[in-house]
Amino acid sequence: MNIVLGITGGIAAYKAPDLVRRLRERGAEVQIVMTNSAEEFVTSTALQAVSGKPIRSNLWDKEAEAAMSHIELARWADVVLIAPATAEVMARIVSGGAPDLLTTICLATEAPIALAPAMNRVMWSNLATQANREVLEHRGIHIIGPGIGSQACGEEGAGRMLEPDLIAATVFNLTGGKGQGLLEGKKVVVTAGPTREPIDPVRYITNRSSGKMGYAIAGAAVAQGADVVLVSGPVNLREPPGTEVVNVESAEEMYAATHAAIEDADIFIAAAAVADYRPVAVVKQKIKKNDEAMSLELTRCPDILASIAALDVAPFTVGFAAETENVVEYARGKLEKKNLDMIIANRVGRDCGFDRDDNSAIVLWDGGEREFPTSSKVELARNLIELAAEHFYAERGSETQPGLTVITNND
Ligand code: CTP
Repeated sequence: MNIVLGITGGIAAYKAPDLVRRLRERGAEVQIVMTNSAEEFVTSTALQAVSGKPIRSNLWDKEAEAAMSHIELARWADVVLIAPATAEVMARIVSGGAPDLLTTICLATEAPIALAPAMNRVMWSNLATQANREVLEHRGIHIIGPGIGSQACGEEGAGRMLEPDLIAATVFNLTGGKGQGLLEGKKVVVTAGPTREPIDPVRYITNRSSGKMGYAIAGAAVAQGADVVLVSGPVNLREPPGTEVVNVESAEEMYAATHAAIEDADIFIAAAAVADYRPVAVVKQKIKKNDEAMSLELTRCPDILASIAALDVAPFTVGFAAETENVVEYARGKLEKKNLDMIIANRVGRDCGFDRDDNSAIVLWDGGEREFPTSSKVELARNLIELAAEHFYAERGSETQPGLTVITNND
């Protein structure tokens, strides 16, 4: 894979040599394009040494342009990755300006573009940056991260560049060609989002799930090389690149779509907030408000997770437990009752869990548990996938495990 790696002027540029190494380990050719301000944070000498190619930075460099013009470079790229991506470069790409070599390549390329933002948390949450992020995502540019945690400026929050290995893994899966990864050659089925249980043609019962956690899990599984089927309830999210998405509405539709996809699956992760009950009958015409009170008769929806865990040949099955109290106790009960291999428990409420970009979790299995403190759903998903992969190989035999080290620390 040919990667144009754009490096812009943020402190996270010091991680760029490591990122280049991770991309090259996966077999990529990396051509670095630096902006002038990036040179303030990392030297072109170091980058030239790790990339094995002269660094490009000046649009008007006659010698370099004669060897490979910016247009040829834009064509050469299978992916353009900018890491770290500053608020400034995001704004420049949004505006369509091309004042330097990197933004000119972004305008001239037909390859997928991915940005790994890195900036102070206030700059990241600034409405202008968030509006730019939305525009970029809407145009199909992949935004990888940022992570949440301590920042170079001494503050805590969202804005850290994600770790080079995660960026490399994600980028490798953008072009459809699978890279290396813990789940290479494995099939993972994920359910995500809420379900809608119709009452009449205009009304339904649903819940506050945004689908963000399930989508992040599907993305993290793709980044680890898995073939991923994402069975999704109605959400307002972009499809994670590299996944096969099956859109459904009701619990019964989700049950059918999941069972249709599960046959040769190795791992099943049920992240959807499936309705437990649905109206017994769907009224054909819109219900009129004739009486002072009305009641709806509800019946149980099929339990997708329990039904998959009970299959004769069941995949490694992971459930979620969203609880408002007694989180560990209730989750362990569900682990046993539904006969799961693993359960991911988290607290939900008005200001945690649902429809947020961050989350924390306690993962439980027979005889053990592991706590993950609050981080972005993207980072949490990466940790959860690594942990699930580790247990999957431990339980289902390690002979098929790709020769990679399983990293399970959560820092
Ligand atoms: N689940 C499912 N099908 C359902 C209901 C839930 O697959 N019909 C899955 C969810 O995706 C999640 C887990 O089961 O992985 C949640 O377990 P559940 O016991 O249903 O949780 P709650 O609905 O929160 O249960 P309770 O109200 O009893 O706490």
